[in-house]
Amino acid sequence: MAYEHLIDLNDLSVSKWNEIISLALKIKKNESVYSEACKNKILATLFYEPSTRTQMSFQTAMLRLGGQIIGFDNPQNSSVSKGENLTDTIRIVSGYADILAMRHPLEGAAKAAALYAECPVINAGDGGHLHPTQTLTDLVTLQSEKGSLSGLTVGLCGDLKYGRTVHSLIKALSMYPDNRFILISTKELSIPQYIKDWMNSHNCPYRECYSLAEAIPELDVLYMTRIQKERFASEEEYRQQKNVYILDMQKLFSAKQDLCILHPLPRVDEIDLNVDKDPRAMYFKQAVNGVYARMALIITLLNAREQTSLLSHHNPAVCCSNPKCITNHETYLEKSYKENGDLLVCEYCDERQLL
Ligand code: CP
Repeated sequence: MAYEHLIDLNDLSVSKWNEIISLALKIKKNESVYSEACKNKILATLFYEPSTRTQMSFQTAMLRLGGQIIGFDNPQNSSVSKGENLTDTIRIVSGYADILAMRHPLEGAAKAAALYAECPVINAGDGGHLHPTQTLTDLVTLQSEKGSLSGLTVGLCGDLKYGRTVHSLIKALSMYPDNRFILISTKELSIPQYIKDWMNSHNCPYRECYSLAEAIPELDVLYMTRIQKERFASEEEYRQQKNVYILDMQKLFSAKQDLCILHPLPRVDEIDLNVDKDPRAMYFKQAVNGVYARMALIITLLNAREQTSLLSHHNPAVCCSNPKCITNHETYLEKSYKENGDLLVCEYCDERQLL
């Protein structure tokens, strides 16, 4: 049986996103109406990587909907530590639960899980690839705080290379009219080519820039991100990048009065603690909105009739060139690529290689 999953937000239509966003805002206004919406349903949270917000907000969402939760937050406490592969774990747990949210360090792991699951799968972050429920959270927050998801100048600052929240948000906001992006990063952590191609093909203007101070006066939204130590090959590479961007009150002096400052969190030191008191700081509200976004998503997927299409173009002879792709670790997985001009695009992790 096939289910509707959430692997990449762009697998769903924009009208479906809008339905989920408005349901999240309805739940936020009158939560008690939904207190039994998932009675007798079980959510499994399988977190192969650490998390505070995503895991606990999923669990909170299901509990507030009257459902129950199972799962692990450390795979070493599960049979993964005995060598159980990803898809056997998924087959087993999806037989116990009605819906499953998984975070995994490898890119494309959520797609692999969905192929074997007997229930809907939600991607709660797959390596440096995508984080669609963070994006839903961001969209709910922007709709609530800016009143619109269109006509915004959005600055994204910090780790634009490995930042899965950044990739997912750009892909989402470029589907709404008249948005433009200012991509603020060092050369080493600049946005991947496939996201640039995405913006170009969706006629979404963008500019790359090094200086946060230079960009800030133009912005309606500033999306700060952490330099993710865990994504670097060496400590030395991380040390060269950390502390390049710090948002403080001095920089905010030249910002618009209605700037909306977002951050997926956790923060290390890229936002000075004094900024928390500024009414433009929305990142704690954003984390609360994550519960409503996930409540709306769980209700939507448990009631879905449509199915997510997963793999379309099998090609067992080719290996994905991304060493962090799930297919290079769980090597029994069926390899599958879409053709895009003279490129092959891995259907798990979106890595591109020449035909
Ligand atoms: N925003 C986010 O994904 O936070 P966690 O890593 O704490 O889940």
